Amino acid sequence: MSNKSIFYVTTPIYYPNDIPHLGHAYTSIAADVLARFHRSLGDDVLFSTGTDEHGQKIENAAKKAGKETKEFVDNLIPQFKEAWKVLNISYDDFIRTTEYRHKSAVIEILKRCYENGDIYKGNYEGLYCLGCEAFYLEKDLDDGKCKIHKTKVEVVKEESYFFRLSGYQEKLLDYYEKNIDFLSPYHKREEIINRVKEGLNDLSITRTSFKWGIPFPYDEKHVIYVWFDALTNYITCAGFPDNPKKFEEFWPASVHLVGKDIMWFHQVIWPAMLMSAKLALPKKVFAHGWWTVNGEKMSKSIGNVISPIETSKKFGADELRYFLLREASFGEDGDYSEKSFIQRINSDLADDLGNLLSRALTLIEKNFESVIPQKHDSTNMDEELMKSLDIFEEYQKYMDSLEFNNALSSVWRAVQGANKYINDAQPWKIEDKKRLGTVLYNVAEALRIISIYIEPFMPTKAYEMRLCLGVRDESFKTLKHHIKPGLKTVKGNHLFKKYDIKLIEKEEQEKKNKEKVEKEKEKKEINKKTDAHESKKIMQQDFSILNLKVGKIVDIKMHPNADKLYIEQIDFGTETRQILSGLRGYYAADELLGKKVVVVTNLKTAKIRGLESQGMLLASEEDGKVGILFLEHANVGENVSIEGVTPSTKEIVYEEFAGVKMEVKYGVAYFENSELKAGSEKVKVERIKNGPIR
Ligand code: MSP
Repeated sequence: MSNKSIFYVTTPIYYPNDIPHLGHAYTSIAADVLARFHRSLGDDVLFSTGTDEHGQKIENAAKKAGKETKEFVDNLIPQFKEAWKVLNISYDDFIRTTEYRHKSAVIEILKRCYENGDIYKGNYEGLYCLGCEAFYLEKDLDDGKCKIHKTKVEVVKEESYFFRLSGYQEKLLDYYEKNIDFLSPYHKREEIINRVKEGLNDLSITRTSFKWGIPFPYDEKHVIYVWFDALTNYITCAGFPDNPKKFEEFWPASVHLVGKDIMWFHQVIWPAMLMSAKLALPKKVFAHGWWTVNGEKMSKSIGNVISPIETSKKFGADELRYFLLREASFGEDGDYSEKSFIQRINSDLADDLGNLLSRALTLIEKNFESVIPQKHDSTNMDEELMKSLDIFEEYQKYMDSLEFNNALSSVWRAVQGANKYINDAQPWKIEDKKRLGTVLYNVAEALRIISIYIEPFMPTKAYEMRLCLGVRDESFKTLKHHIKPGLKTVKGNHLFKKYDIKLIEKEEQEKKNKEKVEKEKEKKEINKKTDAHESKKIMQQDFSILNLKVGKIVDIKMHPNADKLYIEQIDFGTETRQILSGLRGYYAADELLGKKVVVVTNLKTAKIRGLESQGMLLASEEDGKVGILFLEHANVGENVSIEGVTPSTKEIVYEEFAGVKMEVKYGVAYFENSELKAGSEKVKVERIKNGPIR
């Protein structure tokens, strides 16, 4: 790979409705390391990333938020760009699938597949996971649920156009055999080969039940399936079809980096599409492992999603880049914990590399007035040092096979070699100025070389090292040059900060305790429940004292003085009310926006932390989880009641409301044995199976 002058690397294009997390950052960092390595070699590099913006999942999310779909996605893109900026991701192209250039590419590849006789009309009946935007067979599921998202799949039955994937079984198997690098890493190839050998079903590539996608040019009722659309991004970025010169130069891609969950799309469907369109296939598709956090799957509901932006702000972007690629082998899963991250920073970065630099700079400052000294005769020890720095061949081999952790181990052997050299040479004891100069020259040269090797992984730190050494414009092309005597060195700050794990753990614990106390306090304040119980006796009340209505959350803001409270604007058709709720620790704002909820509208207006709340939104709490009461089809402003009861118009106080014992049974809201309904629709409760309603 690396002796060619063209290098094209891609990341998957991310669904923009998620916040960029550690998993997304991982692929982007790895792609960036490869891009920087190849640029440093002098290759012509194209590095693409972007966002996957079509499909039912995005359309639904926009609807839920009550926004136009395009406007909804437009607002989500900056958070991805911001993350890549913080992490120093040097992409050349950021593609959005809603761009015009992409539409042309999709239509063109589709046309070629169509003309090749690989697209036909049929009827689709099957199971669909919205989270994956993928069709599944019963055998792929766990108790009717998607294995990745753990959610129930939908039954989809509609007219559809199909791509004749079944016709590519032999061709794919043959291709895998002849192109040994295509399925990477090597140890995962059997999984794909065996599945392909089991047989391939034709793929439904159009949908009629929603509109948010590229229209299918042969039948306008249909839109193109989101994966057919998304995979094509890789050729759009390479200039297909309108820039044939660029396409010729950069296609096929050198490597597509993908997570293990989307191997099938990239290693089976995508090559079959390209074969059908008579386009070349990427040279390699590498499926990397997944990150867990403290041994657990990263998930919104557990609340352990790691933000690369926050983590970089706390510990440094280069540090995070280093950790992710050093800690786990790229083809395997890895586990993130603050403890292991700090251990790596303290020992590999601060102790090994940071100290080496600061020792060298101190000695040069003290003995040679911060000027790189002349080199004189070499000894065996000096030769040994140079040998330990001669790692290019193995480093390059590891970079070519995406064994980043091994590439870094090679570099760290060189760092240790240089540390050993200082320890053995003991420059602080050398009296002969010529010999001392030679030793310190060699250490400075070692640092220059190391800065070249670490640059793809830690571009900012490499730059800082060079500033200290007085060198500039280094790259693999200058690896064999030598540092020039006479350059002025600068002793800057420490290259890496060290952290006290115990202190950080203590701070974390204190933060958690404080949050817990605050949560308790908020709870008391919002519900006034405890107070009410203590001071007045809550009387059992009848349901008929309530006036409940369906309202839609049309706007959400954070309460400026209470970090557990949201300020919601709720639309009832004839009026909009401001309501404060303590849902902030349990729901992201975009999860609530657009939801139809149940509101107690005849509750006396309350002032909470300086702001008015004109009613109360109903929710249930059980085992630390909170879920709202919601409706899907009811109209805003509609009454919510139980059979035979007309809503009251009389204002009530909180204690009266608290006396109405409503509860959730099997996910449905009840008062005693009557279901709460808006018209004929039952009121359902999110996340909570059984629990009290308040
Ligand atoms: N939009 C599709 C990709 C289309 S490419 C033509 C998609 N997007 S995604 O946003 O859901 O996921 C993007 C990538 O993030 C995937 O490669 C996935 O494997 C990766 N990760 C998501 N969670 C992850 C971890 N916890 N750890 C590592 N990577 C993970 O799929």
